[in-house]
Amino acid sequence: MRVIVGITGGIAAYKAPLLVRLLRKAGHEVKCVATQHTLQFVTPLTLETVSDNKVYADLFDSNNDHTTEHISLKDWGDLMVVAPATANIIGKMASGIGDDALSTLLLSFMRKPIFLAPAMNTQMWESPAVQRNIEYLRSVGIHVLEPGSGELACGTSGAGRMPEPEEIMQALASASPEPNLSGQKVLVTAGPTYERIDSVRFIGNYSSGKMGFALALALAEHGAQVELVTGPTSLKISHPNIHRTDIESAREMYAAATNVFPTCSAAILSAAVADYRPDHTADHKLKKQGAEGMTLTLVQNPDILATLGTMKSAQQTLIGFALETDNELDNAHRKLEKKNLDYIVLNSLRDAGAGFGVDTNRVTILGRDGSSHATPLLTKAQVAEEIVHCCLTPKA
Ligand code: CTP
Repeated sequence: MRVIVGITGGIAAYKAPLLVRLLRKAGHEVKCVATQHTLQFVTPLTLETVSDNKVYADLFDSNNDHTTEHISLKDWGDLMVVAPATANIIGKMASGIGDDALSTLLLSFMRKPIFLAPAMNTQMWESPAVQRNIEYLRSVGIHVLEPGSGELACGTSGAGRMPEPEEIMQALASASPEPNLSGQKVLVTAGPTYERIDSVRFIGNYSSGKMGFALALALAEHGAQVELVTGPTSLKISHPNIHRTDIESAREMYAAATNVFPTCSAAILSAAVADYRPDHTADHKLKKQGAEGMTLTLVQNPDILATLGTMKSAQQTLIGFALETDNELDNAHRKLEKKNLDYIVLNSLRDAGAGFGVDTNRVTILGRDGSSHATPLLTKAQVAEEIVHCCLTPKA
């Protein structure tokens, strides 16, 4: 791939040459575009040496072949990554400002994948203006990595540290090569299940369905036909490749999933299925039972994932999720074996920003072949891309 590394003027710019080296080592061609402030932190000679290419820092450089040479880079590059991305470049991108070589190139590159690795002081990162800009950039498809937390150059500690070059490399891996899933049908389960107690009450959980919906969309955009079986959620989805079935209980999800699975080449079960349901449902609203309390007897629901594991043919790929709080890796490996899965996506509830309701996630994808792929904190849409690339792209 041809990668353009944009570098802006923050102290984390010292890590940019390392990122360029990792990209070169992975076989990519690299060209660097820097802002004038960047050159206070890292010299053009360093960047030229590690990239083996000339560095672009001036809008009208007399050394350029012609005055808009930096713009012609948009045709050369397959992907751009800005690391570090300061609040300034984020603000310019969100506002459509092009006043130097990097910001003009970014404006002209919007149709291709752009990754940002923000780095700034915590208060700057958390400021309403930066957060608004990030939200906007994500809404138009820019991949904004979550900054790390820890000690910052300004002496404080908190969110704002540039993701490490290795983490950026992992995020970029999701942009290549584009998997083509046309001709494949994939089952996705999403959301919670509700297990009725009576006509007005149920047992449920906090799952929002966001991860499953992000998966359905990613699969559909890569050309797959998607059978989305979802529990109760307020989320909407609209794509010609997605067929949505709304269910309420685990048993209804079981019926829908086992019915469609034989026609699918893969299934990704991200739903948070209730393991138990009340042994019977009252058809009226139960009255208060008095001060001595009341007892609900629960019976076990069928395990949909384990059932698909027994139905699976050699041509089908089965992917489950594991939400763990303790002994995460051991438990996930055990589920992978026990339920006859090809991959398991491990969510740890201990990770800030991962789990129910939030828009971000950090996962480890474990393969039956012994593979293990840990992502940095990403948006759920980016995690969905990682899962599609890791589990459903034929290995070379
Ligand atoms: N799952 C399922 N049917 C169930 C329970 C879980 O299909 N009745 C699926 C989930 O969609 C997920 C995976 O199984 O893909 C793991 O769910 P999890 O709740 O982590 O694991 P359990 O097998 O229920 O084990 P435990 O609750 O004991 O950790």
